[in-house]
Amino acid sequence: MKPQPNPGQKLLLEKRGSAFDDPAFASNKTLPIHRWVPWIAGFASSFVRDALNLSGGENRHTILDPFCGVGTALVETVLHGDNAIGFEINPYAALASRVKVSAYQIPLEALQGEIANFQRFYADKISSNYLPKSQSPKGFKTRSEFYSPRVLHKVAIALDFIQTIDNPRLKDLFRLAFASTMVLYSNYSYEPSLSRRVTAGKAEILDFPVEEAIIGKLREMAEDIAWYREQLSEVGMNGDRQPRLDCDRDSWQKHKIIQDSFFRYSSYLEPESVDSIVTSPPYLNNYHYNRNTRPQLYWLGFAQKPQDLKHLETANFGKFWQTVRGQERIDLEFALPNTDLGDRLETIRGLNPEKGIYGGSGWANYAASYFNDCYRLAKGIVNLLKPGGTALVVVGNSILQGVSIPTDQYFGKIAESVGLELVRIEIPRATRVGNSIIRSDVRVGKAKKSQKLYEAIVELRK
Ligand SMILES: C[S@@+](CC[C@H](N)C(=O)[O-])C[C@H]1O[C@@H](n2cnc3c(N)ncnc32)[C@H](O)[C@@H]1O
Repeated sequence: MKPQPNPGQKLLLEKRGSAFDDPAFASNKTLPIHRWVPWIAGFASSFVRDALNLSGGENRHTILDPFCGVGTALVETVLHGDNAIGFEINPYAALASRVKVSAYQIPLEALQGEIANFQRFYADKISSNYLPKSQSPKGFKTRSEFYSPRVLHKVAIALDFIQTIDNPRLKDLFRLAFASTMVLYSNYSYEPSLSRRVTAGKAEILDFPVEEAIIGKLREMAEDIAWYREQLSEVGMNGDRQPRLDCDRDSWQKHKIIQDSFFRYSSYLEPESVDSIVTSPPYLNNYHYNRNTRPQLYWLGFAQKPQDLKHLETANFGKFWQTVRGQERIDLEFALPNTDLGDRLETIRGLNPEKGIYGGSGWANYAASYFNDCYRLAKGIVNLLKPGGTALVVVGNSILQGVSIPTDQYFGKIAESVGLELVRIEIPRATRVGNSIIRSDVRVGKAKKSQKLYEAIVELRK
């Protein structure tokens, strides 16, 4: 039997008048497991918990997140006692999801032992004339030196140690501890896009206690794994706590992270096999997940050269402005009667022609690509949901070339056009992460004061 929703929490929801609290990432930063890997424009774990509690019921459900990022929804799904399936196209985020969701399987004593081995290895190598075998990835080109020489030496020692770890789960955990801290001691920072520290007015990092940063992260992980195991255990007949999860038994709870584009869902999932969908696809704000994770993708060995990232760009939900701005005119591939979506894209297309691909035509191409993928997502939702199943899709609105785009409303209409019921659209907060990208004058021109950026929960039912 699944753990039951906490009645106190349900009451709280009713009192608040809104079913969902904090769909932005904010509170994730301090919560066990969720705090491991920072990721932009996710939703908070409490939002997913609220959603799962509202779906209620004793039976185990299968919950899908088609754009699972670093696995917020999936971790909460496992904690809630349901089966979790996620798609994620970015290999670094997929690794983070996989490691986080299955972290209860990590043997804690072995982890503590490996942390102690790391400390010994590091202390030994740093105090000798050790020449590390690990090097900066050859294809990873940056405008500034990514690591200062002293930092690079320390990073290389850490990477040499990671190579010695035999247990694949522990190795992945160490890789994640490195990858989630690696920008901290580099000459780059997230602003929120990856930028040179000097450009952001920050000093370069000439030296840094790299091992402390990685060990600090590993200790946090060990603490959270103990918590996770506790949450996932139940008291047996004899009063002992026993693990609730057992992946070797077919009838037990399962989780699966598919490192591929969601649009290839038919290769992995049967139609009508999912009870609920909880997701947040990339917003129409051109946040470039692939460029911003280049350090992790190269240093973890997921990319050796720029071409290795090409397929991520073209298969990314909504494409990127940089990918489509110079292409022939891109139009909507579906009809959406009774809306002004087509007209609004036409308005954008006509703006600032003197700017060439940087003017309206490039942004109209980007918006059309984005809504074409919204249509494909809606089709995927209809295909995969069981009859009566629900989908919660968190999207952000947008302002392109000063023109406001209520993405939530258009997405609701698109969903209706493919046969889904639009239950409601809720706007819980009126600000959001990553505003600076879209507010940038270079990109969009001046947005009118009255135009606000917000995120919305679009609730759909099949
Ligand atoms: C808004 S984020 C989701 C964050 C997630 N809710 C979390 O809490 O971590 C959108 C994610 O979609 C991923 N993505 C983009 N295109 C995709 C595609 N075609 N298939 C699967 N994932 C994709 C991006 O890499 C990004 O991680």
